[in-house]
Amino acid sequence: MNRLNHVAIIMDGNGRWGIKYKNSRNAGHKEGLKTVEKIIKETIKKKIKFLTLFAFSTENWKRPKKEINYLFNLLENFLTNRIKDLHKQNIKLKILGSKKFSKKLNKLLSNSEKKTSKNTKLQINLALNYGSKSELIGAFKKIQISKCQINEKNIGRYLQTKNIPDPDLLIRTGNTKRLSNFLLWQLAYSEIFFEKKLWPAFNEKDFHRIIKEYKNIKRNFGRI
Ligand code: IPE
Ligand code: IPE
Ligand code: MG
Repeated sequence: MNRLNHVAIIMDGNGRWGIKYKNSRNAGHKEGLKTVEKIIKETIKKKIKFLTLFAFSTENWKRPKKEINYLFNLLENFLTNRIKDLHKQNIKLKILGSKKFSKKLNKLLSNSEKKTSKNTKLQINLALNYGSKSELIGAFKKIQISKCQINEKNIGRYLQTKNIPDPDLLIRTGNTKRLSNFLLWQLAYSEIFFEKKLWPAFNEKDFHRIIKEYKNIKRNFGRI
């Protein structure tokens, strides 16, 4: 049976869910946050150590301002209301991506990271304004400046995921089979599950089914 140490999720399908059931994309984002809460709980129950959630890509800035503002308000409220409790649960929060938001949100994110930095039960990596290509370019630039060798170890060391093991399992909800610029380097040997369900409809049962299937996969890493 495979060990499961790190689950990464592309939480896709909020907008379509919102349109279908509430005639509003933003209502889908609100509902999607409930799934986030459910999956965090299950991740702890399953004793998984790392959970990486793709919440906003570097390409998502191309969306209408109204939707972007709604998303970041949602995040701001979530952190303001929930960070104390996450901290109490011994959860560490880390932001992947560059913090180029409002002054208030940047501060809230940094403070949340600082407050929870010593926690050990579960590390949640929240990918916000994250793009894998820009992360890789950043890493190569730092290697160039430091004049150290370009090799696997050094690239890993200069990525934002430094000290985070590669995901064992990637789940993408929303019935789309693509990576959308998410962790291109780190997912080299991850097991990938593309799920038909939209993120707000995804639940504990779906998560358990995937984990069960993952545990029985023969992972080769090039061997036989
Ligand atoms: C959520 O799903 C992902 C975010 C960018 C917040 P979407 O908003 O992409 O939902 P769909 O794919 O349009 O249904
Ligand atoms: C990927 O979803 C990004 C997040 C889930 C945050 P998108 O909805 O932005 O992906 P594309 O544009 O359909 O590939
Ligand atoms: Mg989408």
